[in-house]
Amino acid sequence: MKLWGGRFESGPSEVFERFGNSLDFDRRLIDCDIRGSQAFARALERVGILSPEERGAIVDAFEAIRAESASPQFYAGATDEDVHTLVIRKLKEKAGKVADKIHTGRSRNEQVSLDTRLWLREECDRVRALLRGVMGALLALAGRYPDSVIPGYTHLRRAQAVLWPHYLLAYFEMFARDFDRMGEARRRTDVMPLGSGALAGSGFPFDREAIAGDLGFAAITRNSMDVSADRDFALDFLYAASVAMIHLSRLAEDWILYSSEEFAWLELGDGVTSGSSLMPQKKNPDSLELIRGKCGRVMGSLTSLMVTMKGLPMTYNRDMQEDKVPLFAAADEVSASLEMARVVIETVRLLPEKPYTAAQESWVVATDLAEALARAGTPFHTAHQIVGRFVLESVRSGKRPADWTAEEMHAFAPEFTADLAAQLDPRQGMKSREVPGGTGPASVAAALAAAKARLEEMTV
Ligand code: ARG
Repeated sequence: MKLWGGRFESGPSEVFERFGNSLDFDRRLIDCDIRGSQAFARALERVGILSPEERGAIVDAFEAIRAESASPQFYAGATDEDVHTLVIRKLKEKAGKVADKIHTGRSRNEQVSLDTRLWLREECDRVRALLRGVMGALLALAGRYPDSVIPGYTHLRRAQAVLWPHYLLAYFEMFARDFDRMGEARRRTDVMPLGSGALAGSGFPFDREAIAGDLGFAAITRNSMDVSADRDFALDFLYAASVAMIHLSRLAEDWILYSSEEFAWLELGDGVTSGSSLMPQKKNPDSLELIRGKCGRVMGSLTSLMVTMKGLPMTYNRDMQEDKVPLFAAADEVSASLEMARVVIETVRLLPEKPYTAAQESWVVATDLAEALARAGTPFHTAHQIVGRFVLESVRSGKRPADWTAEEMHAFAPEFTADLAAQLDPRQGMKSREVPGGTGPASVAAALAAAKARLEEMTV
């Protein structure tokens, strides 16, 4: 069926019909389309276009259509242009003549905006709930190894020792910002467009605030042309989803490395790894690789919609129908990845000796030594030079920090007083990093407790 046709002498070509049809993908909006149309029927009653009986018949028919739409049979043989058209055809089949009034003063341009907003609002909530799950799992994992030390990296070279919970809390902060960004995307989505007509505003005096109240929207849109032209709210979601995916992807990359034989700090759960069809020994981190892989697809969805929108003249253009496939795909991928990540985090085991040994065998204590010298009065630049030479000597002679005695250190440089030898233990230097946000043990314990309280406040 078409919602137009009077002006045409012939119907669309079969090729164009196939080419332009969006039902295959926008049927996902059917529930939102029905909810929006029921609210619109009530709005039509309020402006006197529908009698209470007609409105009742329409709302009931929509309810029956909603129930039927759960069965795949419902779509069998449907050749409707899009989900909006399908729903109206079904309404006509059910409610008869009265259905002809449902499009009074309403355009599909505003309808598709409404449906997408109704749908996306729920997706934002779903993603936020899943982000909470990931953050909760990170905090639980931090609590399981509160004192474990790992080498922190820059340039993928061992840099300074940090507590394992400090490392995990870095990701907690990223996901907390993602939670915020998703909330912001939701706020921009939560605006009601009906009453905008095709682009110029409806020709009927709808109480737009009442429609917003009916559908639980926080506000109404302020410009009818903007409604037909705008997909910013979808872009906001795609951006927030992309950044969350980047965070997941970096966590995945870390853990693929950390669980490799070369690092061997982490043991991934059997349930989130795969074997090889040829090599019997393999235990591959496929779940994490897929998260990393899906990140590219979500970013692709953002790029795809940005490119679709960038050159469009005001207001609606059919190009905009192409928003849905990337939007739906990104929502599915970010949700699936967050769920997967939570399970990976819940089932991972840290082998604390490994990263601790890695820290001990490297020169992550070099900065601690230089700073201890500076605290004792040596200008930092000089201290940096002394420790640099000390490390060079150690590398030349094959000595690890623990191989040095206090006497040997003092012989190397008179600035190395006996008490400084304690700084050769990676745990020691961390104790001086008790700044807010630092890896000092007391700071980390406080940050962990604060994160738990913050997570409680992050309600969806
Ligand atoms: N299927 C269309 C879309 O998703 C609905 C809006 C159609 N409007 C129009 N003027 N053809 O964008």
